Amino acid sequence: MPEGKGQPERKGRPERKGRMEGKVAIVTGAGSSGPGIGNGKAAAVLFAREGAKVLLADQVLARAEETLEMILQEGGEASAFEANVIIAEDCRRMVEAAVERYGRLDVLDNNVGISRRGTVVEVLEEDWDFIMAINVKSIVLSSKYAIPKMMETGGGSIINISSIAGLRAHSSTPYTASKAAVIGLTMSMAADHGPDGIRVNCIAPGLIFSPMVAPRMDDDLREIRKSAAPLRTEGDSWDVGYAALYLASDESRWVNGITLPVDAGLTVISPVTYQTLGQQQYVQPV
Ligand SMILES: NC(=O)c1ccc[n+]([C@@H]2O[C@H](COP(=O)([O-])OP(=O)(O)OC[C@H]3O[C@@H](n4cnc5c(N)ncnc54)[C@H](O)[C@@H]3O)[C@@H](O)[C@H]2O)c1
Repeated sequence: MPEGKGQPERKGRPERKGRMEGKVAIVTGAGSSGPGIGNGKAAAVLFAREGAKVLLADQVLARAEETLEMILQEGGEASAFEANVIIAEDCRRMVEAAVERYGRLDVLDNNVGISRRGTVVEVLEEDWDFIMAINVKSIVLSSKYAIPKMMETGGGSIINISSIAGLRAHSSTPYTASKAAVIGLTMSMAADHGPDGIRVNCIAPGLIFSPMVAPRMDDDLREIRKSAAPLRTEGDSWDVGYAALYLASDESRWVNGITLPVDAGLTVISPVTYQTLGQQQYVQPV
């Protein structure tokens, strides 16, 4: 069996350096749709904090610039780039910009995504096409241009942001279908590009509190969401960002094709997990 390319050698305990030292990353949707820290913004800040040079891509340049401001204040290195990642030419320019500005490309965090509710009876055809484009095609187009650049330097890491809505029904059929597609896309990409040293993994965030969902939340709803999972605490975008940081760094060098739920354990329980049912009572063995 030929050895995969780009597998960084494990050299014992490294001297204290940033976990992303020497790496160049693109984060799509690196701004936040509202005040606060979204998943893309958190990942971008953490990548930069750990030594990466980060291209902050967003359809709304001002949002990427807010993230840039935060990174620069911390002494990190990054730049903003305006791109609509459902347009192939924008994706091509985005990848070119990262390589021109920083000389290489190691990490692509495909974070852009939107949510829409509705059944197949309710959903409008144009809304279906739009959500599939934003949540799935954007990953295909960004990766199409990023992978050849990663291959030039021996490999890289791609992180696709799905959702637990891609693992379970979620009263939002177009969103669930698109986020399940992201999981399938991740597995297939991991198989296709692993031999070139490119790892492709997926994160499935749970019911986190972030700018994306904040406008739809009140305190009661936040409490219900919080108590739904075994940990009974509220997650935020930093939880998702730290998962992305692990998958982007060489610490995950042997992790490929996975979907990592970041959900306080919500998807491992069932509606009866906390009910004591007669037939499940513990019987002392004789
Ligand atoms: N926040 C949650 O509760 C939650 C839960 C599960 C999964 N997710 C997933 O996390 C990802 C995004 O999280 P976030 O918190 O960063 O969202 P966000 O809405 O705060 O930010 C996303 C950014 O993407 C940009 N964007 C939107 N469409 C774009 C396009 N076509 N091209 C370029 N940029 C575009 C927006 O301008 C915005 O700045 C999505 O894939 C979402 O489905 C979020």
